[in-house]
Amino acid sequence: MSGVHPLEIIAAKRDGREHTEGQIRALVSAVADGSMPDYQVAAWLMAARIRGLTHAETLALTLAMRDSGARLDLRALPGVKVDKHSTGGVGDKTTLVVVPILAAAGVPVLKMSGRGLGHTGGTLDKLEAVPGLRTDLTSDAAIDQVRRVGAAIVGQSAELAPADGRLYALRDVTATVDSTPLIAASIMSKKLAAGADALVLDVKAGRGAFMPDEPSARRLARAMVAIGASAGMRVAAAVTAMEEPLGRAVGNALEVAEACAVLTGAGDADDRLVDLCVRLAAEGLRLGGAATTEAAAMALARRLLEGGQAAERLMALLAAQGGDSHVVERPDLLPRALERATARAASAGVVARVDAREVGRVAGLLGAGRARMGDAIDPAAGVLLLRRAGDAVARGEPLAEALGGSAERVREAALRLRSAYALGEPAPRRGIVLGWVRRAGRRAYTTARVARVDGAGARML
Ligand code: URA
Repeated sequence: MSGVHPLEIIAAKRDGREHTEGQIRALVSAVADGSMPDYQVAAWLMAARIRGLTHAETLALTLAMRDSGARLDLRALPGVKVDKHSTGGVGDKTTLVVVPILAAAGVPVLKMSGRGLGHTGGTLDKLEAVPGLRTDLTSDAAIDQVRRVGAAIVGQSAELAPADGRLYALRDVTATVDSTPLIAASIMSKKLAAGADALVLDVKAGRGAFMPDEPSARRLARAMVAIGASAGMRVAAAVTAMEEPLGRAVGNALEVAEACAVLTGAGDADDRLVDLCVRLAAEGLRLGGAATTEAAAMALARRLLEGGQAAERLMALLAAQGGDSHVVERPDLLPRALERATARAASAGVVARVDAREVGRVAGLLGAGRARMGDAIDPAAGVLLLRRAGDAVARGEPLAEALGGSAERVREAALRLRSAYALGEPAPRRGIVLGWVRRAGRRAYTTARVARVDGAGARML
């Protein structure tokens, strides 16, 4: 560690002292080149998790991680390049709708996505349910595709922000993932390295999300918007509800089919899903300069969706990445599960809640997700929700369907799905978007969980 001893850095954070930018750069460089052993990195992470980081420290960490590997240069692409990121939820297929809307408006998007882990799904797994589709494009190929097609959705390159890869792996095994500044720095370092000018964030709040409640999601949203403002990227963050799954489908091919139905207008699309897609797209259209007011952006997003231009862009994107573009109009061409079983209501009543976390877990057990990175997944497996909060059901009526490759597993899954449904008095429903954070400000650092430690600057915990 050039000029800085690891023990000094660990002790400084342990005692609640603020790091200098130089100390953080030295730390990240020692993480990236492997010269700092795992036990010392883990000790620093725990100190940072407990003591928190100031905005200046979080920003320095983000920028040092951004600079720890390659950075995409999108300047050759015309226009304002817009990216989108969701912090992950259950049934979240919005990228498959939002990116084509932006492309249809001429707003270029090069989106790097991840795989699902635990009870949340990942866009890459969903896309790879499309027969033939490739996500392992080189950055040159992805940039070329954006020039030709308007958008590309590819795998997160390991060459971008490699220091985050090592830090995240250690956080995962040291109970230090749930730290607002560490999460914010991790996400934003990769987004900044991916080179877009602007970013729409969807920060999920609730049982199906990484952030369990609205205040913690707002805190994360504020931290990321503040980093963007300091790092020269325009960032707008929606805080959105993730108590229950988004839409009716959870599972890779099932979610692609649902997203395609939203794009083509086939069937009876879920209102909250459509509303969220339109709002996120509208924000991207504004950031990308395709509309100036919120009302104009919403109208444009709806027009591109309802006029079929967005569906046409998804077809072009799938074809460009080697996938069968016919799936957009013919979801029967997607992988189909061999077995299905129905979860039925044990008694009559009104659905009060559908527990997103439990539905995500059941979908995972059916093979739609993975417990560990590298586990194989079944693209056809998943859950279809037939009843939602507020729906009345009679005893024995279907609530949901479990789909998978084994008759025994789908039967067990159907039983578990029944317990994901709670009957009773539904809570009053708020809109899917709980609020927006669009500007960085002092409020970003004066939330309830901010602590003052030893007279040092305010810290995000
Ligand atoms: N996603 C990331 O990329 N990083 C985190 O720390 C958490 C979620």
